[in-house]
Amino acid sequence: MKKLIRALLFTACGFVVLAGLAVAALALRRPAQRPPSAERIERTPDRLARGAYLVEHVSDCLTCHSEVQSDRWGLPLKPGTAGQGGFPFGKEFAVPGVVCAQNITPNPAHGLGSWTDGEVLRALREGVDKNGDALFPMMPYQDYRSMSDEDAKSVLVYLRTLAPVNHSVPAKKLDFPVNLFVKLVPKPLDGPVTAPDPKTDRIGYGRYLSIIGGCHECHTPHDDKGKLLPKKDYTGGWEMKGPWGRNITPNLTPHPDAYLGRATKAEFVGRFKSFVSLTGDNAPVAPKGRNTIMPWLPLSGLTEDDLGMLYDFLKTLPPIENKVNPFPDAPSPAS
Ligand code: HEC
Ligand code: HEC
Repeated sequence: MKKLIRALLFTACGFVVLAGLAVAALALRRPAQRPPSAERIERTPDRLARGAYLVEHVSDCLTCHSEVQSDRWGLPLKPGTAGQGGFPFGKEFAVPGVVCAQNITPNPAHGLGSWTDGEVLRALREGVDKNGDALFPMMPYQDYRSMSDEDAKSVLVYLRTLAPVNHSVPAKKLDFPVNLFVKLVPKPLDGPVTAPDPKTDRIGYGRYLSIIGGCHECHTPHDDKGKLLPKKDYTGGWEMKGPWGRNITPNLTPHPDAYLGRATKAEFVGRFKSFVSLTGDNAPVAPKGRNTIMPWLPLSGLTEDDLGMLYDFLKTLPPIENKVNPFPDAPSPAS
């Protein structure tokens, strides 16, 4: 008996030592990465225009990376804060700690002014910062991994033209063990990235927009560690809480009970376009419980053709039933 207990104790000690070694190895480990490219990206007018479209509309970098007016409907930006950083992600976003979206303006002290083009491009799609440290995946670099090389360069060219705001955000604080596990998330790209050609593959291009536009990310349910649930793509049900209140994302599959099961393409496009004149200056204060993190304002700037391709793509999804109430804290109409 004594022998057995001793043997068990040895084994247990062995496991503790091994676990300790694994933690130590992870603590010392650098995230997977490759050196940033030394290329200076040529600033062409086409890239500037495309970059503005991607940053301000499709990928909506600015809602996270600026100060928003969270009491106004649709969370418009506070004028003059574009790209200065700001949005704090905490427990309500399944972040164990606090991570703020940083200053991405060309400010040399607090922004990307001292970063090379290659360092910015690597952060965007491969998830490590200038020093090669892991970015928390609340920054959607796992989605931007699919962004084509040309689109990524366009984003870079536009970022370089933002007004350089002298503003810093609070430092990142991640609890153990997530501060270590986050190092396992970044992945270097393994080759050139291209986008489907919208002229020949409208469904493929719609899917592309839905990935780099965050539709897939927000409209797919996540577990309590922030991981997407398998086989539930686009079915909605992710709960998001923040300074604006609480939302649950709706189902975007074309199930007859869901919006995409009912709306025509013209209705879908028109719904986005109806917000095109709302800005930080004229957006109304949101009714109680009815503010929304859905980027209606930025997405209203998508071209009708791009919105049409998003619609065509969403209509190809398998229809899955999932009824949600996107505004769980809104007073019911009767009360
Ligand atoms: C959902 C919110 C969100 C969106 C959308 C978003 N970001 Fe971020 N971004 C973050 C957060 C949060 C961080 C901080 C991560 C960290 O510190 O670990 C970050 C970090 C970064 C960094 C690294 C900055 C630094 O100082 O380390 C860059 C560069 C960046 N984002 C660029 C972009 C661009 C360009 C876009 C649009 C194509 C974008 N982000 C869209 C949330 C977002
Ligand atoms: C940051 C998270 C987020 C992103 C990104 C996002 N959505 Fe949403 N979306 C929401 C939330 C939350 C709602 C529910 C509240 C509302 O209707 O305003 C919503 C509502 C919608 C609705 C209304 C559905 C209904 O049942 O009435 C449509 C359509 C929609 N989103 C499409 C899209 C498309 C297309 C994209 C990508 C181009 C996208 N969303 C990106 C969070 C998001």
